[in-house]
Amino acid sequence: MLTPLGFRLLRRLADGEIHSGEALASAVGMSRARVSQVLKEADTAGLKLERIRGQGYRLHDPVPFLDRDAIVAALGATAKTLKIDVVDTVDSTNSELNRRAAREDVHRRLLIAEWQTAGRGRRGRGWTAVAGGSLTFSLGWRFEQGAGFLAGLSLAVGVALARALEIAGISGVELKWPNDLIHRYCKFGGILIELSGDALGPSLAVIGVGLNVRLPPAARRTIAQPVTDLATVARGRVIDRNLLLAVLMRELTAMLDRYAVEGFAPLIPEWQRRNAFRGKAAKIVLPDGSTASGDVVGVDASGALVLDHGGRRLRFVTGEVSLRRP
Ligand code: BTN
Repeated sequence: MLTPLGFRLLRRLADGEIHSGEALASAVGMSRARVSQVLKEADTAGLKLERIRGQGYRLHDPVPFLDRDAIVAALGATAKTLKIDVVDTVDSTNSELNRRAAREDVHRRLLIAEWQTAGRGRRGRGWTAVAGGSLTFSLGWRFEQGAGFLAGLSLAVGVALARALEIAGISGVELKWPNDLIHRYCKFGGILIELSGDALGPSLAVIGVGLNVRLPPAARRTIAQPVTDLATVARGRVIDRNLLLAVLMRELTAMLDRYAVEGFAPLIPEWQRRNAFRGKAAKIVLPDGSTASGDVVGVDASGALVLDHGGRRLRFVTGEVSLRRP
């Protein structure tokens, strides 16, 4: 498991230069043997480290690490409306914000992690991400309303993220119900919203977002569905994660302010325009394992998926959708 010390070493290696074991050891006040031992764990975080005999260490794909100052500078005025923490490692940003919510107000608190050791996806699944090649963050947001009003929130968040990616020059982003970000039917982003509070409000939403920015082949192989990353969607363009995060947060916070007043309904046309499955023959697997099929009509104001099955409208609030092959 990569430790905080490991991250201190990796930050030094982020320049892509060769660093001798001796120089690294003296920088962190440890023995060379300890440095070598700690760096053995780099691959657990998805980083490929080269050991060059007689010279030292070099990161195979050097990447700028997440940097709070860079994020705050890029956020401009929006930074003042948020409480921002950037950490090297945490089990899951959602879990950590939920824990903090038990002892403090996490409204508008943004927690960004370079690496999660136990990232969580929807429906009990895990979320794979790599240090230097992903964006994983959670935002706490308080609403006066209850869970019913927030049913469409995750779809609204999907729209905000897709808008932000477009603003950042990454086009061709589509949505898959309920809240996957996809490109050519391959997933590169997911949203996990966890709600707490009274049924009629107020509520706290912990909004977790995971994006693959540059996912190495080894990490892709651990994911049991078609995946892609933003570097591919952006046709190889180098993506500055600090700047991208700022654009995402600006759109997301503006969206959340509007959602608190208007809910999801005004976003239905935009969600539908970005819906990769619109008009397609689809199958949905329900939590009990049963399936239903139909042509995708769209979503309603509560964020439910609407299918047309031989002229009959079917409405789903949960499930896994896939394209139905003819
Ligand atoms: C999904 O598509 O299944 C949702 C994935 C959500 C992943 C993000 S990464 C940041 C936040 N912390 C977590 O543990 N999960 C969410």
